[in-house]
Amino acid sequence: MSNDPLANKQQAWSALFTEPMSELVKRYTASVGFDQRLWRADIDGSLAHAAMLAAQEVIGADDLAAIQRGLAQIADEIASGRFAWKLELEDVHLNIEARLTALVGDAGKRLHTGRSRNDQVATDVRLWLRGEVDQLGLLLADLQRALVAVAAQHTDTVMPGYTHLQVAQPVSFAHHLLAYVEMFARDGQRLVDLRKRLNQLPLGAAALAGTSYPLDREAVARELGFDGVCQNSLDAVSDRDFALEFSAFAAICMVHVSRLAEEIVLWMSQNFGFIDLADRYCTGSSIMPQKRNPDVAELARGKSGRVIGHLMALLTLMKGQPLAYNKDNQEDKEPLFDTVDTLAGTLRILAEMVGGIVVKPEAMERAALKGYATATDLADYLVKKGRPFRDAHETVAHAVKLALQRGVDLAELPLAVLQALDASISADVSEVLSLRGSLAARQVLGGTAPAQVRLQIERHQQRLAPS
Ligand code: ARG
Repeated sequence: MSNDPLANKQQAWSALFTEPMSELVKRYTASVGFDQRLWRADIDGSLAHAAMLAAQEVIGADDLAAIQRGLAQIADEIASGRFAWKLELEDVHLNIEARLTALVGDAGKRLHTGRSRNDQVATDVRLWLRGEVDQLGLLLADLQRALVAVAAQHTDTVMPGYTHLQVAQPVSFAHHLLAYVEMFARDGQRLVDLRKRLNQLPLGAAALAGTSYPLDREAVARELGFDGVCQNSLDAVSDRDFALEFSAFAAICMVHVSRLAEEIVLWMSQNFGFIDLADRYCTGSSIMPQKRNPDVAELARGKSGRVIGHLMALLTLMKGQPLAYNKDNQEDKEPLFDTVDTLAGTLRILAEMVGGIVVKPEAMERAALKGYATATDLADYLVKKGRPFRDAHETVAHAVKLALQRGVDLAELPLAVLQALDASISADVSEVLSLRGSLAARQVLGGTAPAQVRLQIERHQQRLAPS
């Protein structure tokens, strides 16, 4: 039997153990099936740790050279799919370390000096997630750009704005889309903000208490691009709130996605008919030949469920854990991985699909004309003529009632009928009652007037311009 504890892991963990691990325990506790995804972060972390150990004269320059050579070969093996992952070596960390020792001997066994898998895994997950956060930031920007591009074509396209899904007031399609741009912009800000807390180095905390070796944690942090160093070793190995924050960001973002997806589904249904989707984003039915379904939007809506579920899983994972590291933490990975994959995949396809939206302005306008969407404008008109708002509100209710009885829109009521309700009404009311008049009147900052919306589009275009 060799005296390499990792090589002997098939037998037992260390000399302390009198029997090997049970097969079931081995399978139950292993994470290598999924955490091998962290391999590059693991190798980067090890390289920085080893370089610092050598600079601090904890290991020799020859050891460092051997470690660098071995890890380079391992990176090659993994990237090309030749690396033999072993379940009995439990996780990505032990797999790589065992291979390193097989390749370079004692230098490989020195790599773990002043380190524990506890600070190692915390470092790996942060490094990996940082890269994903940066990718997601780009995808979020792409989606916003796609929405702004469609909006720019539709500042004068009128659709009904809804409250309670009842026609409320006219808005432009551009204005409606820009509401989602605001949501995704805030999601992007959340990413930037959580990245600061994520980007702190745990390494050097060792198992939980710090280490007796003269480590230079700041140097490792600089080398790995961290903004700083975790200031408490117990916290460093046990904190996963960076994952909770990320997961909360992702859940919120998927809720925004889901709301947009829901609207796309509604708008495309025959009952609305506001938009169509290019064929390449639609699916058919195996039984109903006439069907063209918005499956992508439905799936995006549906996938919000699993991302929200992962947030619940992670919160629950953390809530009962005493300090410091517990094996529970190994359960953080699959929810995190799936969250990243689901969100990235969804943002990517949505950004593309938004470009495939075919707008039907006539249908939107017809719907806006149906629900007395300019009733508030008539009330505002009366207020400008000196009537108290509450009285104006009541007068307009009577006007709507008359229009309903006649089956016409407010704009179609004869002037004389309106004047019988309030003598101050004059011919200029027709502009007020028109959809475009209503839109143009909402000149307040953030309002739906085309001039305001164009200002917003310019602001977004500048903000999202590739620098
Ligand atoms: N695979 C483990 C995880 O993901 C690595 C840390 C294990 N540490 C330990 N003391 N067992 O959390």
